[in-house]
Parts: sequence; structure tokens; C-alpha cells
Amino acid sequence: MFEATKAKIMKTNNAALLQWIDEVKTLVKPDQVKWCDGSKAEYDEMCNLLVQKGTFIKLNEQKRPNSFACFSDPSDVARVEDRTFICSRKKENAGPTNNWMDPVIMKAELNKVMDGAMKGRTMYVIPFSMGPVGSPMSQIGVEITDSEYVVVNMHIMTRVGTLVLEILGDDGNFVKCLHTVGAPLQAGKQDVKWPCNPTLKYIVHYPEEKSIVSYGSGYGGNALLGKKCFALRIASNMAQEEGWLAEHMLIMGVESPEKEKTYLAAAFPSACGKTNFAMLIPPKEFSDWKITTVGDDIAWIKPGKDGQLYAINPEAGYFGVAPGTNEKTNPNAIKTIAKNTIFTNVGVTPDGDVWWEGLSKEVPKDIIDWSGKKWDPASGKPVAHANSRFTVAASQNPSLDPDWENPNGVPIAAFIFGGRRSTTVPLVYQSINWAYGVYAASTMGSETTAAAFGEQGKVRRDPFAMLPFCGYHIADYFNHWLQFGRDLPSPPRIFNVNWFRKDEQGNFAWPGFGDNIRILKWIIQRVKGRASAVESPIGWMPHYEDIDWNGLDSFTKKDFDKLMTIDREAWKQELLSHAELFERMYDKLPKEYIFMRELMLSSLWRSAAQWKLEPETV
Ligand code: OXD
Ligand code: MN
Repeated sequence: MFEATKAKIMKTNNAALLQWIDEVKTLVKPDQVKWCDGSKAEYDEMCNLLVQKGTFIKLNEQKRPNSFACFSDPSDVARVEDRTFICSRKKENAGPTNNWMDPVIMKAELNKVMDGAMKGRTMYVIPFSMGPVGSPMSQIGVEITDSEYVVVNMHIMTRVGTLVLEILGDDGNFVKCLHTVGAPLQAGKQDVKWPCNPTLKYIVHYPEEKSIVSYGSGYGGNALLGKKCFALRIASNMAQEEGWLAEHMLIMGVESPEKEKTYLAAAFPSACGKTNFAMLIPPKEFSDWKITTVGDDIAWIKPGKDGQLYAINPEAGYFGVAPGTNEKTNPNAIKTIAKNTIFTNVGVTPDGDVWWEGLSKEVPKDIIDWSGKKWDPASGKPVAHANSRFTVAASQNPSLDPDWENPNGVPIAAFIFGGRRSTTVPLVYQSINWAYGVYAASTMGSETTAAAFGEQGKVRRDPFAMLPFCGYHIADYFNHWLQFGRDLPSPPRIFNVNWFRKDEQGNFAWPGFGDNIRILKWIIQRVKGRASAVESPIGWMPHYEDIDWNGLDSFTKKDFDKLMTIDREAWKQELLSHAELFERMYDKLPKEYIFMRELMLSSLWRSAAQWKLEPETV
């Protein structure tokens, strides 16, 4: 959100933009068109309108200043992967992990449902920048929407405003992002609190045209088109064409007691605590270490002239998952959302504050749950939806990195990949080289949580945490990563982590959260060539002595060795399931993957059932 230009009158001579707006207007037939200028006055006006419509509940000004809560339609609570399409001209360019439809057929279908879709509503035109306005690493988009909720969320999540139009100029390129809730309003009819189309939704990407059409949903990544649709699905296509990376990664800075700053980019699938990691506060024994946040979800990464990689966070805010966020798991997030925040699908307390599972032990009395009704403790239902969210400006984050808006990005020293695995995958290992690291990231998996994908505990392969977000054939994406590394004089080192391994009793075996700094410290020292490691069948691993245990005496060498054990049978099964993944993308699979899998198999093929950091001496 920026205010500098609020007084200016919205104007553009960009012919492509004006023509597109005209075409859309003729198709969707809104009552009126409004250009958004990104000003605070506009934000306040939209919030007031949402309060008048009953969509927003103004929260208690003393407890949660300038903040609002809202409840979505029960049919509209998350990204709809089964209704998300990559409409490339050729099916083989969308690949086996995306839904595809011929763009000509899709356009015909969408033209029908879009006809008159904004009747009775206002059509808002939102010019926005992904990345700092004017940065050579940023991209411009324009979202057309009929949702005031989208307008205010875009204000927070992107940089909206007139300045963007100035930079776009008369003939600059922009990504067309067309969104409608798909609920035209008949004259004289009262609007519902959360307009959407409960039965029909489309999230459509045209990679060759670099445009997006979203119909029927008002929620999150379905509707805030700068996020997953543009910054990942469309941008991944741009990145492949132009030789850079658009990734589902957080970016964090780590400052050592000697004030040495190292930036890392890390990919975790949804529901693996990415925001918590990006805002980590180290334990008191590490109080001279400092973690800073550049981004919590998406990274655009380009090679610099010096051969290093530089990353920007294309977003300006956080659309974070609320449940589980508390003073212990993420104190920085709790501070970040103390004011100026929009809460979607959380509980609302009688005194006008918010609550969700995990915020505190006790459920506040007489709370309103996310269905908008008084919560019934006997119902067995949660107060907040499992995918309930907060939308808040990054600028409110106490751990914000001073360079988070550096137009040239921050230098990336290492990549970290991690999933939620209760068995098999050790706490941390370093791939022996770029190609193995890319292989490990391509085959990473995560156990689904009931909240995220219905079936609990099943390993879902989620290459690079990009499965729902790669806008082209996933095996072409692997090839792009391999080639990208070959072109770098000294590619960053690649690490895998697993914070979620469990012990025999089913308890998490690693404390996680702030204690993850111990693993980060080893990673950074490895990158700088200062830490030793032991060679395992899957990569390099720290000895117990390589990790700084200061303040965690309760965690013994035996505990650590257990977390690092490689069960050969489990890994052979793991490699078998890699083959299943590969078989789905046989047409374009990098040839290297077959050999790397075989080599890993050969190093696992030994008599002892388990590979241990400290083999028992005979
Ligand atoms: C997100 C996701 O919302 O990855 O960031 O699902
Ligand atoms: Mn994400």
C-alpha cells in the first residue's frame, strides 16, 4: 500500500490496457467502473463499505485497532485445485500434474459464464506491482474484480496505485488478471455477505498470453490473483522463458553474532509452518543470532552479473494461516497482526477480538465461530476454519529485513527444502551437488494433514512444493532447474530438512520452532566451508558434535542419532515411489533422474538394516 500518489487522478494511455478494460466491461456488464489508486482513503472507504454490507465485522478498536473479521461462504474456504486450469495451447505443455483444457474451448465456456457476471456490481480496476515498484525484478499486473474484499486484500498483498500506471507507460506489458465472484446482483436485491458462486468455479491461466481469469470464488489464492496465479503459475512460465526462477519459497536473513549476514530461500508445502520459520525467534542461548524476513511464501530469483543469485519477495503482505499461531509458535506473527489486519474465517469473541484453535488453551466463552453463529462446544467442530487466514502488511513484521524492498534483491547462499514426514527423512542433509539437490527437491513429499487435503498422513509428492503452482510441465521445470544450475559458476548448496519426524510413541522427536536455528547455523557454516559433515547414502549429514546444542542439554546424542537414522528398507520404498512419480512424466523426465535414482539405490543396498551416524562397533 503506498499513499504518495493518492491525490492524483487515475489516468493511462496504455492502449492494450484501455482496450482490455473496454472488452471486459462489455462482457461482464457492471453498473459502474472504478479505478483503484491504492490510497489509505480508498482502503478505508472500501472497509466501511464492507462493514455496511455486513461482510466485515469491525473489531474492538482498543484490542485490535483498524482490524476486521469476516466469514466466507462455506463453499468458498480454500484454493480449488480441481478447478484450476493451465490452458496452454498444447496439452503436453501443461503436463501431468495440471488440469488442462484447450484455450479456445475454455474461452468459449468462460465467455458464456462471464456474460453479465458483474451485473448490479462495481467493476474495480487495480493496477499493481509484484515486487518493489519500479524494480528491474518486478512485474506489473492489473486485476479487474467485482469484490471489495479483493480490493482491500490486494492493497495489503501487493503494491497498488497510480505510480504503477506511470511505470507501465503507454506501451508497457502487464498481466491481465480478471476476477469475478460470479454472482450478479439483481436490481433491488439485497447482496449476501460473501458473494460467490457456490457451484461453479474456474481458476484459469493462459501461459502463452500471460493472463488469468478467475470465476466464482472470493477466497485467497483463487481471487487475489497476484499471489499463486500470477507470482507462481504465470511467473514460472516467464521464468522458464527468460532464465530465472519463480518459486514457492520464503526468503530469510540470518545474522551471526559476528554480524555476518546470510540469506536463504526455503520451500515447504502448505501446512508445514513456513511463516513460522520465516519469522523464527532463536532461543535465549542464541540471542546474538538474528533472523530477518524478506518473504514468507514466494521468491523471484535471478542470476546477477557477479554470478550470484538474487531474490525478491514479489508480495507486500502475508496471507497467513491463523490456527496454531500463538506467542510460542510465532511471537513475531502475533505482533504483526496486532493491528490493521483482516481476519477471514476465524472466531470472533463477544468483546470484538479474534480467536482460533491454538491461540490459547481455553476457548473464549460465547465465541462466534467461522459460520457466524455462536459456537456449540458439543458440536465437535472447530471455532476457526482450519484454513482461516490473516492478511497483514509485511511492514508490520518486527523481524522485517532492512533489505526486503531492495530493488536488486538479496543474495541467496543456499536453498532449503522440507516436508512433513513422520518417518524416513532425517532432520537435515546436504545434497552432494546441485543435480542431486534438484533431484531431492523434485521428489520431496509431505504427509497430508486432514485440514489440507482430506486424507490424513498419506505422503503426497510435492516437487519443490510447487505441485499446485507450476504453470507448465513439471518435468520441464526440473530440466529448467538443472540447466539453471549448470549456467551458474558456483550454484548455491542445497539442503533438505524434516522438522516433523516422530518417535516410537508418535511424538514429534525434534523441538522445532526457535530451535531450528541450530540446524540453520550448521547449514550456514557448511555453505561457508566451516563445518564438517559425514557422508551418508543420501548426502552429507552433521555429526552430533557439528550442531550447537547450547541450551538444549535435554536433547541427547542418542536422540539426535535416532533423528538421523536412515532405514534402508524405508528408503528403498521411497525410491520406488519416486519411480511412480517419474512414470507419470516419462515424456519429459530428465535422463539424469534415472541414473541418480539407481546410484542412490546402489548406495542403500547393504546388509545392515539401518544406516547410523554412529555405527555400533563390533
Ligand atoms: C498458501 C499455500 O496459502 O501454499 O500459501 O497454500
Ligand atoms: Mn504458499
